[in-house]
Amino acid sequence: MAVFPSRDREAFFEHWSRIMLDRSVITRVIEIDRQVAGNLLCFGPLERREVGYWLGRDFCGKGIATEALAKFLGEVPERPLVAHVAEHNLASRRVLEKCGFNHSGGDPAFGTLDGETVPGLIFSLG
Ligand SMILES: CC(C)(COP(=O)(O)OP(=O)(O)OC[C@H]1O[C@@H](n2cnc3c(N)ncnc32)[C@H](O)[C@@H]1OP(=O)(O)O)[C@@H](O)C(=O)NCCC(=O)NCCS
Repeated sequence: MAVFPSRDREAFFEHWSRIMLDRSVITRVIEIDRQVAGNLLCFGPLERREVGYWLGRDFCGKGIATEALAKFLGEVPERPLVAHVAEHNLASRRVLEKCGFNHSGGDPAFGTLDGETVPGLIFSLG
């Protein structure tokens, strides 16, 4: 869905250790019934702040990303915000739309999947 493959446990914690040391990044855990369901973050230079999110597979399709992102947007004052999403990631596009983002551009070389270039879309808020 996201084009970026999920990391194994060691790579995941190594990646997140770096993210959490970066004071410019705002991070949140999505917790459902005391279980970690996913994460949200806001990152990037002041003039182009970006949001991203990721859910564990068991938690997808239950409205969790929309609710979590809506709450996160209430806590993060920066505007405008952008989000990059693979064109084929219809669920993520819908999450952004439901949270008030508008399609504002394209990202022709968003990522690579099975050796093929995958186009992306840019969504903006504010
Ligand atoms: C994409 C992701 C965040 C969606 O989370 P989620 O909690 O399932 O999303 P929600 O349930 O809040 O909303 C999904 C919406 O997409 C819709 N949707 C899901 N699959 C769809 C599809 N194939 N076609 C059209 N709409 C689809 C749902 O119907 C829902 O919209 P609705 O409420 O209007 O019915 C989650 O699957 C995920 O983390 N995926 C892996 C990482 C990723 O893609 N991150 C985003 C990178 S930009």
